[in-house]
Amino acid sequence: MCGITGFVGSDGAIQIALESLKRLEYRGYDSVGVAYPQNNHIAVVRSAGKINRLLDRLDGEVPDVAVAIAHTRWATHGQPTEANAHPHRDCSGELAVAHNGIIENYDPLRDELQRMGHRFSSETDTEVLPHLIEHYLSKTSDLVEAVRLSLRRVEGSYAIAVVSTRYPGGVIVARKDSPLVIGLAEGSKLIASDIPAVLPYVKDVLILEDGDVAAITPETVTLSDISGKAVHRSPTRVGWRIEEAEKGGYSHYMLKEIHEEPAAVRNALRGRIYNDRIKLEGIPITPAEWRRFERVEIVACGTAYHAGLLGKRLIEQLIRVPTEAVVASEFRYSDPLVDEKTLVLLISQSGETADTLAAMREAKQRGAYTLAIVNVMGSTLAREAGGVIYTQAGPEIGVASTKAYLAQLVVIHLLAIHWAQQIGAPSMGDGASCSVLVNELKRLPELVAGVLQGEPCIKSLADRLADRSCFIYLGRGYDFAAAMEAALKLKEISYIHAEAYAAGEMKHGPLALIEPGVVVIGLATQPLTNAKLWSNLKEVKARNGTVVVVHTEGEAVQGGSDYQIPIPSASPSLMPAIAMVPLQLLAYHIANARGCQIDQPRNLAKSVTVE
Ligand code: G6P
Repeated sequence: MCGITGFVGSDGAIQIALESLKRLEYRGYDSVGVAYPQNNHIAVVRSAGKINRLLDRLDGEVPDVAVAIAHTRWATHGQPTEANAHPHRDCSGELAVAHNGIIENYDPLRDELQRMGHRFSSETDTEVLPHLIEHYLSKTSDLVEAVRLSLRRVEGSYAIAVVSTRYPGGVIVARKDSPLVIGLAEGSKLIASDIPAVLPYVKDVLILEDGDVAAITPETVTLSDISGKAVHRSPTRVGWRIEEAEKGGYSHYMLKEIHEEPAAVRNALRGRIYNDRIKLEGIPITPAEWRRFERVEIVACGTAYHAGLLGKRLIEQLIRVPTEAVVASEFRYSDPLVDEKTLVLLISQSGETADTLAAMREAKQRGAYTLAIVNVMGSTLAREAGGVIYTQAGPEIGVASTKAYLAQLVVIHLLAIHWAQQIGAPSMGDGASCSVLVNELKRLPELVAGVLQGEPCIKSLADRLADRSCFIYLGRGYDFAAAMEAALKLKEISYIHAEAYAAGEMKHGPLALIEPGVVVIGLATQPLTNAKLWSNLKEVKARNGTVVVVHTEGEAVQGGSDYQIPIPSASPSLMPAIAMVPLQLLAYHIANARGCQIDQPRNLAKSVTVE
């Protein structure tokens, strides 16, 4: 989704703003632009397409200026054209605004401004902002106040950056429901939609909160709220290393992030197991409160939702409290059965997904306790939920989520075990006790690392399957949750039609799809249901489908299969974390063999900040 960057210093501003912008490319975008003060006006250079096209526009001659803002746009209102690309200027050409989010009341505002004589040159909602600010500058000479007055008129969400000839040495920024951070260095400041974009330049960042307006100069950041009252925020020291946010020799971020999975799992566990007891900071829930919950709703989107499907089973098994996993976009408008006795668990890598945020706010309004499992530090979900557990997976850049998924599965286990320990829950239905699970969690980084060793075999399988056009993933129980995620991985990055079914459903319809060429990937890691799965796969084989089985080492493969992917055995609920590694690699290598744009698949964005 859209990204904003900016630099306020003494020189090299455009270069730095664009380098930072490149670090936001993973969010997905379709046009790009930069604005900077020059000779008593604001120069704007924009282009449809990628950042390199913008550099062509600049003819390799990047002006050396002290202040610049830059933007990548992911079209919502109007086509991804140069005219619609940000930053947008006012009529005078003396100020420009870059914006992430949506101005919901832009239609009436635009009418009002046009009636006053303002001329618009784009189809965007954003363009009302520079004109509104221009309007208020006829009433006050203070640019920051004009920005505040304008924002008070706006409904919707925004992170904005404003450059103006009235404030030539600085930038004004503000946020509401869309992230923005300020990187702090001696004699210069950076702005960006998220932390990895400023990592090469700073270690300390100010994470803006909703309603914050900041006037930034090379030396100072002056914060106020939208009414003009001074606000204080403490800087956050960023623990991530720069290499964690770069490709580090891998051909794609996705591949790098798959290889980081042992470390991501280790980090998700770090500091949370003491003598087999789980300690989770950030959730102020007492044992009595844990006992009070009568229902759990797990709400998330995409990959995070698939992690939630596993969470549903685990919580029901371990705690025996009815639990549902719901996609966030459905939750909000379903008049959900949620009250003070409901725990609403929100899972999100970015912590900025609009659907998930809306669901969280709805749940809060209905009195539920909201607990977020989030990767991005200081994100909106992390700040607004009643409690937060960070997945600690490090920055995830590839649009297709990989290491964050494994970290989410680990944190869900930690949470469920913690809850069980708080209320003294007996062991799980299948006899697995919390301490067995804790020991298995400790082993998980090493098991995942072992599976990664099998990459050459997965690659050669991918080469054989890369020209197929239909994949069906089958599993039962925890394997079904994993099948859903594996199918999503393949379709996201290879554009091959892939679906997941609960294996028992195959005979109720999807079996009609089977013919030579169709690939069926069966997950057979659940002792309770494996026998049934083998029969389901036999039915596929009998109809000449190609069968690939992911099975636990040592388990005899039955029912006939064309290819086998053995993985080490662990507790049933942990098997999806292990099985996903070869399946992510398979999706990656198939997409690579087909020449797809893996880190930024067509039509997709890493962080979807519109509902
Ligand atoms: C987008 C991404 C998915 C991600 C989903 C939820 O659709 O492309 O990879 O799973 O958003 O994102 P979140 O940041 O909330 O986990």
